[in-house]
Amino acid sequence: SFPTATLQVVVHIVYETEEQNISDLQVLSQIEVLNRDFSSTNPDKSAIPAVWGDLPMDSGIRFSLASRDPEDKPTSGIIRTKTAMRGFDHLDSVKFSARGGSDAWPTDRYLNIWVCNLHGGLLGYAQFPGGPRETDGVVILYKAFGTQGTAEPPFDLGRTCTHEVGHYLNLRHIWGDTEHCFGSDSIEDTPTQQLPNYNKPLFPHISCNNGPHGDMFMNYMDYVDDDTMVMFTPGQVARMRASLMGPRAGLIN
Ligand code: ARG
Ligand code: ZN
Ligand code: CA
Repeated sequence: SFPTATLQVVVHIVYETEEQNISDLQVLSQIEVLNRDFSSTNPDKSAIPAVWGDLPMDSGIRFSLASRDPEDKPTSGIIRTKTAMRGFDHLDSVKFSARGGSDAWPTDRYLNIWVCNLHGGLLGYAQFPGGPRETDGVVILYKAFGTQGTAEPPFDLGRTCTHEVGHYLNLRHIWGDTEHCFGSDSIEDTPTQQLPNYNKPLFPHISCNNGPHGDMFMNYMDYVDDDTMVMFTPGQVARMRASLMGPRAGLIN
């Protein structure tokens, strides 16, 4: 069985404007969302169609702002860095102080989360297990982080971070990242689905002969609005746990 694992989180706030320098409370609101979603205690799971209502389970994965820095000194787990960069993209400058960002804490021991302005409508992105050490972690747009302050609807319930941490723990998009029905997320208990869903779909939304229940668009690994994504499946939980017993084992030791 899987013991409860608490990941030590460091949040790098990289801001150009004062607005982007989000509050500690906004950071804490995101940590609360992660702990609710990964323990399946999010009240909005009541929206899951009855056919899948029994699937959500406690992943045993929890999140805590780091209380010790890499030198073992006390810390709040929140680092603030002023930048001259108007915004960042998926090319990882935000992860290097020499490029206007903030250097990662040892990525084998900490979950690094960077919060900054992102260009081009990007809400966030993540690195899968097994990638380069220096860039490991997740990046989230400051307008899509936490549930208060600068968080803006429809991405103001902290689900961008839930989704990106899913990737960080080896989950693929639920539609398998192809527009063909042979694309797969390699998870048995998520129905095969053709394309991402957006906004707030109506149940059922059928594709790839997956009727009568259709796409599991209310899954965190689809692209729907924050108030519409409410669950991981046991298959997804098993895959995330496997990453923590394999390539990401340093996080829980
Ligand atoms: N990487 C995705 C993007 O930037 C994240 C989508 C998150 N979806 C959400 N409802 N919060 O588009
Ligand atoms: Zn994604
Ligand atoms: Ca599947």
